[in-house]
Amino acid sequence: MKNYIKADEWNIIEEGFDPHLNKISESIFSLGNGRMGQRANFEETYSGETLPGNYVAGVYYPDKTRVGWWKNGYPEYFAKVLNAANWIGIEVKIGDEILDLSAAEVSDFKRILNMHEGYLERSFTAKLKSGKTVKVKSTRFCSIADDEVGAIRYSISALNFDGQLTLTPFIDGDVKNQDSNYDEKFWEAVNDEISENEAYLTLRTKKTAFEVCTGSSVQLFKNKEEVKFTAEDIRKEKFVGQTFSVEVKANDEITLYKIAANLSSENHPKASLLANCKSVIKNAAAKGFDALLKEQVEAWATKWQESDIIIEGDVAAQQAIRFNIFQLFQTYTGKDDRLNIGPKGFTGEKYGGSTYWDTEAYCVPFYLATAPQEVSKNLLVYRHKQLGKAIENAEKLGFNRGAALYPMVTMNGEECHNEWEITFEEIHRNGAIAFAIFNYIRYTGDQSYLFDYGLEVLIGIARFWKQRVNWSSDKQQYVMLGVTGPNEYENNVNNNWYTSTLAAWCLKYAKEAADIVKNQQPEKYNSLVKALNFDEAEFADWADIVEKMYYPVDEEKGIFLQQDGYLDKEQILVKDLPASERPINQKWSWDRILRSCFIKQADVLQGLYFFEEDYDLDTLKRNFDFYEPRTVHESSLSPCVHSILAAKLNDEARAYEFYLRTARLDLDDYNNDTEDGLHITSMAGTWMSVIEGFAGMRVREDKLQFNPFLPGKWKSFSFTIGFRGTTLKVQITENGINIKNSGSIDLEIGIRDQYYKLAGNAEIEVDNATLV
Ligand code: BGC
Repeated sequence: MKNYIKADEWNIIEEGFDPHLNKISESIFSLGNGRMGQRANFEETYSGETLPGNYVAGVYYPDKTRVGWWKNGYPEYFAKVLNAANWIGIEVKIGDEILDLSAAEVSDFKRILNMHEGYLERSFTAKLKSGKTVKVKSTRFCSIADDEVGAIRYSISALNFDGQLTLTPFIDGDVKNQDSNYDEKFWEAVNDEISENEAYLTLRTKKTAFEVCTGSSVQLFKNKEEVKFTAEDIRKEKFVGQTFSVEVKANDEITLYKIAANLSSENHPKASLLANCKSVIKNAAAKGFDALLKEQVEAWATKWQESDIIIEGDVAAQQAIRFNIFQLFQTYTGKDDRLNIGPKGFTGEKYGGSTYWDTEAYCVPFYLATAPQEVSKNLLVYRHKQLGKAIENAEKLGFNRGAALYPMVTMNGEECHNEWEITFEEIHRNGAIAFAIFNYIRYTGDQSYLFDYGLEVLIGIARFWKQRVNWSSDKQQYVMLGVTGPNEYENNVNNNWYTSTLAAWCLKYAKEAADIVKNQQPEKYNSLVKALNFDEAEFADWADIVEKMYYPVDEEKGIFLQQDGYLDKEQILVKDLPASERPINQKWSWDRILRSCFIKQADVLQGLYFFEEDYDLDTLKRNFDFYEPRTVHESSLSPCVHSILAAKLNDEARAYEFYLRTARLDLDDYNNDTEDGLHITSMAGTWMSVIEGFAGMRVREDKLQFNPFLPGKWKSFSFTIGFRGTTLKVQITENGINIKNSGSIDLEIGIRDQYYKLAGNAEIEVDNATLV
């Protein structure tokens, strides 16, 4: 746990330069705009510890996975998000000394991520070996208004010398991934071009043949006057740069503007990539840095209007929640239904930038409430587009008749996770995808989603579950053998309660969805049934499974069993584990973990969270009290679900305690792993803890309900959400709850157990005395 980020409501601030913290800060101060993103690497040379990272959405490399213990059905590759061309680079030479913070004496170092306006600023003073001292201030952003564009303003002042400053802005595509095998490089050059103040580099990925053209245009000012320069062109392997020198006197300030663009063949024909990049660069350069920044500030202002959470009385909590919201929007903007949300977003290589069930289980609720409906819809459409691959994936494992098994980890719909216990067995991801459809419709009321996309996906998923269970003549029930639940510290278990519950729910929901489509759009239904070769007799099979599914329970304890035999394990509690043995995934052998009763993340409790309406509070309490003490929360996805459930159980202290474990997870480097990148998907979980936990927000029968409490440390909190065409601002204080409806639509809102009319453009206030 670190504590070096200064608390501030709108900014993430680091003061002083500690090279040991640099990789952590590179993650924390990352920038992104949904289409591209980057770690907060320095513009100038840095020979100290750094993890270079520039990423372009949708561009990946299929790395080999074949190993000695290859098994039939294994995926062919492990997808890797690629470290792409570095477009921020500016080499700075003072006389003949290179500016490198690792070699210089650094003072007044400050890094600020301005979340309100969406840019990163860094300033410092550096004294070189020669004694020459410069002051630098850089500002940069990835434009969210024009998501192919990024911009940098880099100012350097000579503090105590007259002499020559040489600047080389460059684009360097000769980069590799930290996780590449044998230092393999994944890019090859296609073309490059340098003309006047512009430079272009087009690269192609090996195997996947994605092409990305990166361009830049530079402009130079001395003491705010533009300097016309003749640059020396620099061309190296996969590298273009332009060097120019300026004579400076003490206190002169040189400012370099670098406007850059990244265009990928995912969005442009390869043949016109360079020409299109040139025109994007010309447009952006014509607008100039200040105008681009203004657009950026305006675009972020709109996002904050739709999504801000204001916490009064706790600056660290305020900073944390905004940081989480900011990073989620930097990662996914919902403009492109081929893109998704990697667990590390654009902030690191881990998890390969691929899509996990995290999206459906954790991120969809966030985007549903904080962004236009299109955004969460596109996350769902992404899976619909990949249905064909999910069917192929199931076929590879021996399923048939249109059964669909979505991948645990994917870029383009193909499975690319190569651990059998996950790939073959962690099949609950299929259920999360179905649940997200249900959740989307529950929140938006948009049943038409079923007609065009949803039902087809649900049928594929239902067909999979139908084939995945088998009839146990011993139990006279259906069982589900050989699975891994969300708790990955157990593999190949029989009858994981969560997976079986989810499977039965999917079968039931798929039938309900089919009825809706059949009644409301019979023609669409008929053509779908035909296209899918669907026989309505399949409904009877589904119903039989729903009726006769086996669920492991312990009657005496009154709990659902995580899986058959869970109670055979030696029952130890996490509190009795010595601190020196935690986290167990770093301290224990895998074998010991598998045999232990310790639970990585919510498993039975994940099911009680999804399907809370089916269980009473006593059942929830018994299961919570049994499972939480055995849970090590070694996935960042774990504490938020526990926080929401604790809030539901009116255990406010614990709800807050779990919330704290996720809220500043990265800002305080809680798990000592922030340097690898941020935990983007669990950031959505933090948001859920506030909205579903503390505010107790739910959508039931087309209405919003709140069951709020105010965490003791806070004076008040308020948040903005979009709901069915209107925007609501909800404030919770120690006195009660106030809800303002800023749209013209009338609503009925539940607060605790009572419903209130909330007319368009009106507000309601209910004080605690009225709330029993
Ligand atoms: C968790 C999974 C999650 C993955 C990516 C793992 O540690 O156990 O549930 O999908 O991380 O976030």
